[in-house]
Amino acid sequence: MAGDGSVKLIDEKTGKRTDGRKFNELRPTKIEVGVLNNADGSALIYMGNNKILAAVYGPRELHPKHLALPDRALVQCYYRMSTFSVAERKSPAPSRREREISKVISDALNSVILTKDFPRTTIDIYIQVLQADGGTRCASLTAACTALADAGIPMRGIISGVATGLVNDTVVLDLHDIEDQKGSGDIPIGYSATLDEISLLQLDGVFTIKQFEEAVKLAIEGAKQIYEIQKKALREKYALIRAEFAGESEEEEAEEEDTIEIVSQSLAESEASVDETAIDEVESEELEEKKTEEFSEVEEVSEVEEVSEVEEQDLVSDIAKELNDELDDEKELEEDITSLETGEPEKNNEAITDDSSESVENETEHKEIDDLEE
Ligand code: CDP
Repeated sequence: MAGDGSVKLIDEKTGKRTDGRKFNELRPTKIEVGVLNNADGSALIYMGNNKILAAVYGPRELHPKHLALPDRALVQCYYRMSTFSVAERKSPAPSRREREISKVISDALNSVILTKDFPRTTIDIYIQVLQADGGTRCASLTAACTALADAGIPMRGIISGVATGLVNDTVVLDLHDIEDQKGSGDIPIGYSATLDEISLLQLDGVFTIKQFEEAVKLAIEGAKQIYEIQKKALREKYALIRAEFAGESEEEEAEEEDTIEIVSQSLAESEASVDETAIDEVESEELEEKKTEEFSEVEEVSEVEEVSEVEEQDLVSDIAKELNDELDDEKELEEDITSLETGEPEKNNEAITDDSSESVENETEHKEIDDLEE
């Protein structure tokens, strides 16, 4: 709510504002894109002392389903101020102001999103003001549209939000909190630099037509500068992705090269080992053959030795037998002689030699004949 403009907020000598800015100067603004992993798109804007986070989800299924639009997506925006975002604790319950800001941001974004590409779906945009310092709806609009771009939602153009106001009868760009509270009027504007369209325009306070035109013109200039910041943030993110992708590709290439090297090395090693194995196999085969030959030779020799041993034994036993036979013959002869001398016939004289046996047989026959004659 604008004040009465009685508080001196611009130095008459220097023309500088309470924070040292000139009338047409933006607060230092920075945007980070893709700050949330779990959102489809996100952006964090620092605009002076404002810190605002925007997260985009969708297009996705809408609940309750009866809210779904048959020919396009529903764009739903939820602007919330954190309880700690202002000096005096803000109630966590959504206020009328928050609902109003949610609606005007939704309407502005609806004008650029190609909603007809996604019928029966919803595109949800959550805006959380972490720190407020005036002009939060404009900064929120900028963050939300950047997050939509980050989510890849097709849009006709990018909206940039900025407010102009009347401070000490001077039109100034981008009001901060004290100017917003004590100035005599403010005009928040949502402007698309590519489309040259104004999608949000509100007015609080009283402006002359000249002041109003001046304010709109100044807002458009400011919005164009913000658009450059949005583009830079988006480009930085995609440059990072490209760099990561390129890095990954380089890594992949390096890995591929390493793999090829390793594979070729292992191939060479395996070839070498195959050669060695072949040589070893040949050597071992030769060794085996040699061993077999030696073994068979040894076996042959042992067989020969065995044979000669057997033969030797046979020979010894033959000689022993012969000797025994000779001894027996001698013994029998002696016995025959003894029996002839004594006149007693030998009872078992089969072993006696042929001549002596014949004589003994004759002797026995004679004796038997003699016995029969008697
Ligand atoms: O933030 P913006 O200027 O777009 O909306 P506003 O309704 O004009 O709010 C002006 C400022 O008042 C906000 O930016 C906040 O800094 C401050 N404010 C506050 O201190 N406590 C609130 N509950 C709401 C707003």
